[in-house]
Amino acid sequence: MKNIGILGSGEVGQTLAEGFLKNGYKVCLGTGHPDKLNDWKSQQGDNISIGSFSDAAKFGDLLVLAVKGDAALKVMDSVDADDIAGKTIIDTTNPIEPEPPVNGVLKFFTSINQSLMEALQKAFPAANFVKAYNCVGASLMVNPDFGGIKPTMFICGNSQDAKNEVREINTLFGFDTEDMGGVEGGRAIEPLCLLWCIPGFLRNEWTGHAFKLLRK
Ligand SMILES: NC(=O)c1ccc[n+]([C@@H]2O[C@H](COP(=O)([O-])OP(=O)(O)OC[C@H]3O[C@@H](n4cnc5c(N)ncnc54)[C@H](OP(=O)(O)O)[C@@H]3O)[C@@H](O)[C@H]2O)c1
Repeated sequence: MKNIGILGSGEVGQTLAEGFLKNGYKVCLGTGHPDKLNDWKSQQGDNISIGSFSDAAKFGDLLVLAVKGDAALKVMDSVDADDIAGKTIIDTTNPIEPEPPVNGVLKFFTSINQSLMEALQKAFPAANFVKAYNCVGASLMVNPDFGGIKPTMFICGNSQDAKNEVREINTLFGFDTEDMGGVEGGRAIEPLCLLWCIPGFLRNEWTGHAFKLLRK
């Protein structure tokens, strides 16, 4: 069983860590502030360790990037290049501007023709980024209950092997997978987070909706 390194200690990092732990994986959670995780760690059993972002990258055979969008490049840059080369990195990040939403719509610091994921893949070409888990709320990321209907996890990335690996995780976590091609797919998948957040900002609905691609 692969070891999981999660770079990021917020809701997403913690939720996905719990999902992997529940399925028997060993997880290292990377953070710049390990002390804030003492209580959480004490509830997670023996398969969790807390370390720096570099520790998590070294530990993981499969990595998850779950930091604030505007810190993503910096955090990736802080880890040893050898510890990310050839590895699949699930990229959950969104390029959200630190400004309040306008009528429920957040702003991005990227443009429609250049996603954060593409910037990450370009800066770290030896790693295999796969966009996933960016357009559903953290509380719905692991085995969400939609009365037997599986939500869609949209993914993209340049490595087919890496996408196959993420597809297996998505199945484990209760999602159907829709492959949207290479990294350029990030231009379409990242803005889905804006859409997902609108009911939250307008009507305080944060826990009951996810995307489903219908097919006939
Ligand atoms: N929350 C959701 O429901 C949700 C859903 C889908 C996607 N996302 C995306 O997933 C990512 C993680 O979201 P989140 O809500 O879990 O947490 P977040 O508050 O967006 O990010 C927390 C993580 O980012 C790190 N971080 C923040 N600023 C930093 C800086 N200047 N330098 C280095 N590290 C920094 C924090 O470091 P420390 O560990 O040191 O505190 C922490 O690990 C984001 O890109 C978000 O847009 C979130």
